[in-house]
Amino acid sequence: MSPAVPWAQAWGRSLYGERGFYRSDVGPAGHFATATHGATGRVLARALLRLARERGCTGGVVDVGAGRGELLRHLRELDDAVPLLGVDVVDRPAGLAPDVAWLSSPGGASLPEDLAPRDALVVAHEWLDVVPCTVAEVDGGGTLREVLVDPLGGGETLGAPLDGADLSWCAEHWREALDASAVPGDRVEVGRSRDAAWADLLGRLDGGLALAVDYGHRRGSRPPGGTLTAFREGREVSPVADGSCDLTAHVAVDSLRADEVLRQRDALHRLGVSGRTPEHGLASRDPASYLAGLAESGAAGALLDPTGYGGFWWVLARG
Ligand SMILES: C[S@@+](CC[C@H](N)C(=O)[O-])C[C@H]1O[C@@H](n2cnc3c(N)ncnc32)[C@H](O)[C@@H]1O
Repeated sequence: MSPAVPWAQAWGRSLYGERGFYRSDVGPAGHFATATHGATGRVLARALLRLARERGCTGGVVDVGAGRGELLRHLRELDDAVPLLGVDVVDRPAGLAPDVAWLSSPGGASLPEDLAPRDALVVAHEWLDVVPCTVAEVDGGGTLREVLVDPLGGGETLGAPLDGADLSWCAEHWREALDASAVPGDRVEVGRSRDAAWADLLGRLDGGLALAVDYGHRRGSRPPGGTLTAFREGREVSPVADGSCDLTAHVAVDSLRADEVLRQRDALHRLGVSGRTPEHGLASRDPASYLAGLAESGAAGALLDPTGYGGFWWVLARG
């Protein structure tokens, strides 16, 4: 057993500490797949290049929480001239094209000092869900208390009643946990640290556009039990803050500063992603193109699927 500490503290150390999960050699792709990988990544990258063009982002694309450069590699393959910058907690990944710039970051809510995008499309794909946040739970008497965790054993206890800025955040954005209808065991992931991290990123923009893509929820449909969960080697596991697994919780997307919040499927439709299969005649005229078209429509279908990636939120804010 180790001393119980607030979840946010254990979470931060577990992912971004010296031997934190995200510093491991295999990187996130060694433990779970995201839409930036493989065939979906290519379709997503094409849509992002179109978004950058349509919004006049002449400064290129900045990928915050770039993993090992998966999305950046797709972007470079599709466009050999667009300026690209990756930001993540590790040093520059091996094999990244030399003309892709890279910045190492402290991790979580903290960004590198010299990150100052100019007229760029700044993409944060599945970043905010891994920014640690306060976790709180309604106790037997109806009081919302901070949840503490034993980082090594994973056992939880309830700490002091939530107060100050965290409590104010709940009163404004996650009212259900404070209402008479709240039941013991109801949980809140307090989005204040995500709001602040996002605001910090927006504050660095000189023109351009920021886009956060993530799992999330909005007022009126907050998940009463919370969403804190963990992934290790492709499987969902019980959350433990010992550096062995990813720790993630959905994002309260409507508390982030934004010009627009919409579902990914709607955003991608607007950007011309359709999931249409290639016309049959192509199969005999040009079998290779037909097969490539089929693979691409399958990937587009996965990105648009309302029960999968299509249900992700896009949060857009102008710089
Ligand atoms: C869930 S993974 C997503 C990786 C990639 N964007 C994708 O969608 O495949 C989250 C990534 O965000 C990175 N990250 C977390 N906090 C960060 C920060 N403050 N600055 C840069 N990267 C960060 C992690 O190291 C990790 O690589």
